[in-house]
Amino acid sequence: MLGQEVTRLAPRWANVVPLTRADADLTRADEVRACLTEVGPDVVVHCAAWTDVDGASREPAAAWEANAEATGHVADVCSQIGARLLYVSTDYVFDGEDGPYVESDRPSPINAYGKSKLGGEEAARRCEDHLIVRTQWLYGPGGRNFVAAILDAARSGRSLRVVNNEYGRPTYTPDLARGIWRVLQVRARGILHLTNSRSCSRLRFAQVALEMAGLENVQIRGIPSEQWDSPTRRPLNAILRSERMEELGIEPLRPWREALREYVNILTTRWAHA
Ligand SMILES: NC(=O)c1ccc[n+]([C@@H]2O[C@H](COP(=O)([O-])OP(=O)(O)OC[C@H]3O[C@@H](n4cnc5c(N)ncnc54)[C@H](OP(=O)(O)O)[C@@H]3O)[C@@H](O)[C@H]2O)c1
Repeated sequence: MLGQEVTRLAPRWANVVPLTRADADLTRADEVRACLTEVGPDVVVHCAAWTDVDGASREPAAAWEANAEATGHVADVCSQIGARLLYVSTDYVFDGEDGPYVESDRPSPINAYGKSKLGGEEAARRCEDHLIVRTQWLYGPGGRNFVAAILDAARSGRSLRVVNNEYGRPTYTPDLARGIWRVLQVRARGILHLTNSRSCSRLRFAQVALEMAGLENVQIRGIPSEQWDSPTRRPLNAILRSERMEELGIEPLRPWREALREYVNILTTRWAHA
């Protein structure tokens, strides 16, 4: 989802070489070395990850390999070839007990996905010139996501149950991609929290999406996270706030409702032409 937008929205000064699993399986150090040495990049924007949160709870070792160890392979080659590394991370590195969190807060993941992504952050530091961009609640064109799933379910006439005690900042992948190019331009280093502005509950996010799509009459019921059928405990309030954007002179990303309106318009236009 994100990698495609980073590629599509590249500024003119960037010569992007998009890479997928077909170019290198990142869990294979030899493939990562061969691929990156051949491309010879100045910067690697590492968007690939094991993103199936429940799958990570069922197969923690495989998630660790894909998120922590694989990032180590990327970081080691970046270090050797003198490339900068931007690693995309997540709010799930926090436990969600006392958010919002700023960049200097101490991570404390409560599930296998969060642990593996924190392992990825630690591995990314093996490349001296690194930037860790933490983001949350991604949605956008080019992949299955929460908004598309809610609207599809509503259109097929199903009644909906959505968690009402999880809070975050929904983030639109095209906005995040533009933000990533901006932080690369100002040569930010270390850790940076990058999300659309303002926060909401999962339930509110779903309700606003339904309203924007003209589906406000669909039945939707809020349930606490504990009632959601999942093998994974999720952080409840892991809202990401940034204390570094201003010092770097970077404009905050627009409020999530404006971005959601743009995405819902894309979807409803597509339905009208289907
Ligand atoms: N989605 C969210 O809500 C969210 C929230 C916070 C942070 N993030 C982070 O943001 C980044 C982008 O997320 P996304 O939602 O855009 O991810 P996504 O749509 O699930 O895409 C992940 C990509 O990584 C590739 N990949 C996985 N394992 C690989 C491996 N071993 N070798 C090569 N490629 C591999 C996948 O390839 P295949 O399709 O071939 O498997 C897929 O193309 C990730 O780092 C994620 O942890 C996501």
